[in-house]
Amino acid sequence: MEIGKVTSFYVSGNEVHLQYEKQEVIVTVITPEIVNVFVPCWQKEHLSKAVEGDKTVPCVISTEQQNDTVCIGTDKLSLRIGPNLKLEVTDAGTQVLFHTYEGERVPLKRLSDRSLQQLAAEGHEVSSNDDFHYPVQMVCALDEGDDFYGLGDKSGFLNKKYYEYENWNSDIPQAHTEDFHALYKSVPFLICKKKQGVYGLFFDNTFRSHINLGKEKEEYFFYAAADGNLDMYILGGETMPDVVKNYTTLTGRTPLPQLWTLGYQQSRWGYESASDIREVARQLRENDIPCDVIHFDIDYMQDFKVFTWDDKNYGKPGEFMQELADQGFKTVTIIDPGTKKEDGYFMHDEGMEYGYFATDTNGAVYVNEVWPGESNYPDFGRSKVREWWGDHHRFLVDIGVDGVWNDMNEPASFRGELPQDVVFHDEDRETSHAEMHNVYGHYMSKATYDGLRKHTDKRPFIITRACYAGTQKYSTVWTGDNQSLWAHLQMAIPQLCNLGMSGFAFAGTDIGGFGADATPELMARWIEAACFSPLFRNHAAKGTKPQEPYRFDEQIMGIYRKYVKLRYAFLPYLYDLFYQGEQTGLPIMRPLVLHYEDDPNTHNLNGEFLVGENLLVAPVVEQGAVHKLVYLPEGRWYDLWTGEAYEGAQYILREAQLSVCPMYVKAGSMIPTYEPVSYVGEKPYDRLTLLATPEAASYVHFQDNGTDYAYREGAYNLYAFSKDEKGTLTTVMEHENYPRYDAISLKIIGKE
Ligand code: GLC
Repeated sequence: MEIGKVTSFYVSGNEVHLQYEKQEVIVTVITPEIVNVFVPCWQKEHLSKAVEGDKTVPCVISTEQQNDTVCIGTDKLSLRIGPNLKLEVTDAGTQVLFHTYEGERVPLKRLSDRSLQQLAAEGHEVSSNDDFHYPVQMVCALDEGDDFYGLGDKSGFLNKKYYEYENWNSDIPQAHTEDFHALYKSVPFLICKKKQGVYGLFFDNTFRSHINLGKEKEEYFFYAAADGNLDMYILGGETMPDVVKNYTTLTGRTPLPQLWTLGYQQSRWGYESASDIREVARQLRENDIPCDVIHFDIDYMQDFKVFTWDDKNYGKPGEFMQELADQGFKTVTIIDPGTKKEDGYFMHDEGMEYGYFATDTNGAVYVNEVWPGESNYPDFGRSKVREWWGDHHRFLVDIGVDGVWNDMNEPASFRGELPQDVVFHDEDRETSHAEMHNVYGHYMSKATYDGLRKHTDKRPFIITRACYAGTQKYSTVWTGDNQSLWAHLQMAIPQLCNLGMSGFAFAGTDIGGFGADATPELMARWIEAACFSPLFRNHAAKGTKPQEPYRFDEQIMGIYRKYVKLRYAFLPYLYDLFYQGEQTGLPIMRPLVLHYEDDPNTHNLNGEFLVGENLLVAPVVEQGAVHKLVYLPEGRWYDLWTGEAYEGAQYILREAQLSVCPMYVKAGSMIPTYEPVSYVGEKPYDRLTLLATPEAASYVHFQDNGTDYAYREGAYNLYAFSKDEKGTLTTVMEHENYPRYDAISLKIIGKE
């Protein structure tokens, strides 16, 4: 940044104010491992939508001037900041983590108009002819061995090195491929794993931004934003989990969900009546496929008008919800932001009367088109609008709806993108679509979360498609409109792992694929790979081949049943991981690199993942394959199905016929399991079985009522289990304020 030299600086609390010739820069030590570098080139304030409240803790900070450079130190990080924002960050030792690139950027040779026309003539799409010389820019040196992770839901592989991405929430119905730059979410958080050491970068800026990780040139990576401030956090830590912990300290953590939300969920855009849904419920129960949730897509509304109900086709709402509840199903209804422009429709009339919709620059309410036809866009950046929207959820709560699915909130629009200057607000400050686009889904989720929080005493269950950094505090996410393609099954693993490392512990893809038609084999492999996906929902588009499990033959349905039941057996393990995640920010589904970062074999491992630390899943994600090359990291691993032990730090070839998803339990671990049920709450969970390897092991298990906030008042049990090599189990109650299990048993893998 061309801001000249530092002319003076002073320290005030945790802040170091540096006066440059052309600009003030403020370095704030948030914690010894989190430092913020703030260049207020746009607004004086941070105006963060991701970081809520003050996260700074008292720290000892050292400062020293060395020629043209100011050195700022904590006991974990040292920053050297010099002319034109030249930056170098080292860890507690002398290991350089991050340093700005000193040369000039060399944009990729872009095309002339003539070449562009030529390419277009044959229908080629040139994804970008922009050299991203945006006003806010940070060009950083790319060192040999640097690998990148995070960035939310971006398509492609686990390691983001040598790719480029765009943060501009986009509704993309075409098949998502690895060269896509933007999808539905904007999470400008990166983890850089170096040959030695690791750090994170979080660029808190909601305007359109570009992240180029060595694609332009192998010597550097850069971040560039079209507007706004440079508001950059450098996150230290000794390990990748430390960096994730630090990032979620800043932006918040996925709260413990209700237990049933971890059960199986059935959905399809195309259930057009109560009788369609009744049939789904009947088939699932009759075919012994456990299921907790049925989703209601847009057809349940009258003319797609939010907070209405189509009584004609869906019956009396309260009665129908009760009928499903009696069979043990929870219900989730979709709510889109686009509010039908129709006089006499209460949401329209209220929104108009109170001035709650976005407008054009002349003050006229802005209109575009989504499912209901001409629609308006609630201005969710204002708390008043969020409160109004949230309060309307009372209608859904009263009829017995258990969760809300927020969609089309990029925001989507059928008549071209909303112009950049459409007027939105950040509370009372008038601003534009350009600033609020990437947080539209974030604020919609917050409105929904606050509404449900106010009108029920349960932990809100929300799913959103669009979001920004920090939305994990309010909502779970799914990866939008994938397709029934093997490439999308393959991509689900790195995509969910990167979402997890970006704070979104509760995420899932549409199982079986949303668009296109799932073959029986793809369906079987998908349920295997998704068995431990935190959000566990099968969903498909109108017009595609039906893909509920009972649509397939006995063989495929049998495989489906096996993995859904396995999921239900492992529910207490998943729930424990969520409980721990509230304290650590660590996700459920983890790439191997997260726990084995010093093993280079894990850095580009796209086809397997860990569930917590104890279980390794290596699904077959290739058509026709009946073998899987599994990489087992250091240690000993037990095949979940055969009990056979393998030494790690090697590849093994596992035979995997269609019904087999290779899974391995780490030596020295115990995994809590329940007897599978048809739905959570069918029977009391009064017995716990610990699945263990023969080695000595210990494990802490959490138990509570699984629904409300009583656990925050202490109504829970924490069991500290330990087991010796002979198989003697000892239990110590670390905390006891909930009815205990009637029985706890131990099962050694591979033994009866
Ligand atoms: C969007 C959503 C999809 C939903 C459909 C209809 O395409 O991504 O999940 O089924 O809209 O509401």
